[in-house]
Amino acid sequence: MQDFEHEINVRGWVRTKRGSKNVAFIALNDGSTLKNLQLVVDLEKIAETELALMHTGASISANGLLIPSAGSGQSVELSVSSIELLGACDPDEYPLQPKKHSLEFLREKAHLRFRTNTFSAVSRLRHAMIFGVHKFFNDRGFYNVHSPIITASDAEGAGEMFQVSTLHFDNLPKTEEGKIDYKQDFFGKSANLTVSGQLEAELAALALSKVYTFGPTFRAENSNTSRHLAEFWMIEPEVAFNDIFDNMDLAEDMLKYLIQYALDNCADDLEFLSKRLEEEEKNKKADEKSMELISKLKFVLENSFERISYTEAIDILKNSNHNKKGKFAYPIEAWGADLQSEHERFLVEKHFKKPVILTDYPKEIKSFYMKQNEDGRTVRAMDVLFPGIGEIIGGSQREEIYDKLHNRMEEMHIPVESMWWYLETRKFGTVPHAGFGLGFERLMLFVTGMGNIRDVIPFPRTPLNCEF
Ligand code: 4AD
Ligand code: MG
Repeated sequence: MQDFEHEINVRGWVRTKRGSKNVAFIALNDGSTLKNLQLVVDLEKIAETELALMHTGASISANGLLIPSAGSGQSVELSVSSIELLGACDPDEYPLQPKKHSLEFLREKAHLRFRTNTFSAVSRLRHAMIFGVHKFFNDRGFYNVHSPIITASDAEGAGEMFQVSTLHFDNLPKTEEGKIDYKQDFFGKSANLTVSGQLEAELAALALSKVYTFGPTFRAENSNTSRHLAEFWMIEPEVAFNDIFDNMDLAEDMLKYLIQYALDNCADDLEFLSKRLEEEEKNKKADEKSMELISKLKFVLENSFERISYTEAIDILKNSNHNKKGKFAYPIEAWGADLQSEHERFLVEKHFKKPVILTDYPKEIKSFYMKQNEDGRTVRAMDVLFPGIGEIIGGSQREEIYDKLHNRMEEMHIPVESMWWYLETRKFGTVPHAGFGLGFERLMLFVTGMGNIRDVIPFPRTPLNCEF
């Protein structure tokens, strides 16, 4: 209900100011919505000299009565009775002019880009999705677990970790063999930032049954792409007694729930982002344009994800005209090849034209903890592939049999001794279990229609980029 009878106070930042002889109009925004509030300032009541400093970017506080608006573009406006400048903003220095700035330019102004329509919309959506994640799991009886950020183990076994140390790099203590003596380091051993909370989530699931983590994860892979960050947020559910089929159902339910959550709670912001995308792609050829954002989100809700095995996917890829004509940068020749993002996107965007869940990958290209299939050459892995994104989720059923896990760890040179705690869960009441990791920023890319992962996290961390 709007209060038209009592004076109200509003505070925010000036987006634009324009005026005529007797009256000035200020578009004010406080970040709560895309919509600005129009302040109508009667120049007979308020001196022009006071208004003179209220440039774009300045912060102000105004009192007045809300009145139905005669102008188009808003239903109400504020008839100002008093107005105060809180923080001035020098128009000659302020980088955000009331015009369109490129996303690249705004990345360099990440301290201010929250004030643009695009980033305020992305920020509000990001919040809604975080909230939606917790609601989804809470409503289904999952417990949130905080997995550690500093760890001594490499959950993925890929060796792409940032080291954490208090040793002085210019004077590293050495052992007799000339190696760095981590015994003298803070933890008495070498430690890293975590690449995944999975292993700890497994420990919790083997007692609490249904758990999830939602935390920052760090990867020191030197991938300068529009899909990779060095610091990103991952949602990792882990469920005791689930097999890979339950795991696929959970992943599909969760993604659909979150997309529906965005449609239900962020309609204005999605509409704005849809127009932004349309504008951005206006010069692209028809067959290169992406589907309109809101239709794309609804399309995912209305269709079941295609579920096929890695082996079937390789057949499709190998026999595709795309492959035969040499259009893949990495041609598919034989079973066993790791899939690149171009292959994933071919399956999703060209072949099935909907999200795809790929299962049962060769064990050589997947992590040590995945449940081994009877064929001796594949594991019960599952990757969820999305249009425009490629891999959005990676997960698996876990190897719950002690001997098989132990052997696989040895084969893959995973340090068995230091991971005694992980192995022990397979000795004390082990059960089948499964889980997966959803890259939160990849989901944000999909939902917002933004093209670069640096634009869906406030302060991206990428190779050679750690400003702000
Ligand atoms: O496939 P990944 O490496 O799987 C894991 O980490 C498992 N421990 C998850 C689990 O089973 N609990 O990563 C999971 C997801 C990917 O599908 C992708 O969406 C995202 O994390 N991801 C990244 N997102 C942004 N930047 C990066 N560098 C990413 N690496 C992975
Ligand atoms: Mg993966």
